[in-house]
Amino acid sequence: MKTVTTIGQLREHIGRARAAGRRVGLVPTMGALHEGHLQLCDAARRHADEVVLSIFVNPLQFGPAEDFDRYPRDLNRDAGLVSSRGVALLFAPETDEVFPNGSSPVRVHAPDLGNVLCGRFRPGHFEGVLTIVAKLFNMVRPDCAVFGQKDLQQASLIRRMARDLDFGIDVIVGRIVRDPDGIALSSRNAYLSADQRHSALALHRALSAAQAAFAAGADDPAVILGAARATLEAEPGVATQYVEVVDPESLATPDRVGRGHAVAVAAYVGSTRLIDNHILEQAGSVP
Ligand code: PAF
Repeated sequence: MKTVTTIGQLREHIGRARAAGRRVGLVPTMGALHEGHLQLCDAARRHADEVVLSIFVNPLQFGPAEDFDRYPRDLNRDAGLVSSRGVALLFAPETDEVFPNGSSPVRVHAPDLGNVLCGRFRPGHFEGVLTIVAKLFNMVRPDCAVFGQKDLQQASLIRRMARDLDFGIDVIVGRIVRDPDGIALSSRNAYLSADQRHSALALHRALSAAQAAFAAGADDPAVILGAARATLEAEPGVATQYVEVVDPESLATPDRVGRGHAVAVAAYVGSTRLIDNHILEQAGSVP
């Protein structure tokens, strides 16, 4: 695996791969990699011959009171982790390589999909995500790009952006990877103390309660969300920001909940904001 830090070096490498007829796959990340990211690399490898993984902690997607400064950064550790997962090129630019003028006055904006769920609480976040992903798409020009389902809203927005702005890139969404106790892997889990990590398990329990209500036949969003909320409220270490049930494409709340709809949750555990979601799997029994 080769590591490059400039767009010029990146394009040279991609040019050679393309000349050799190789299909290019991109896995955009902010580093602090875990098994979830590594499985995105495996997915990229299944869809492409040449996998490029980018690591860039994007300042545009962090609010002023958020964790940009303390976001975990360890390039050597990350490089070690992905080198055995079929990644051909690690692209790890510095901020001034990506934003030579300090920022990007031109942004990608998605008012409808970007202002619901997490967007209600993180103004400007998805504009920052879409802008950096559009830049990475233009830098790499991959055939496909892989994102994790844990960031459900991000995945929907990127799929829409790729379609609406005609990037011609297949957006692939990789499943959520969980520890055996159910907690969804996240770079931000590193902020949690042992007690907080224990409290954080309530998010997965809440999604399981929603799934159980659905499997028992409930199709009223209020009933399914009630089951999830009751579970979260029973855990004193968790402050719920939202629990919603949505269509994962439109992000709209359905009148009646069906298979394939997603239950999404965001909550604070201490000062750490965690998100998780679950796609409802099995139709409820017909009364
Ligand atoms: O999911 C992430 O890690 C980031 O939001 C992304 C897609 C790499 C953009 O900075």
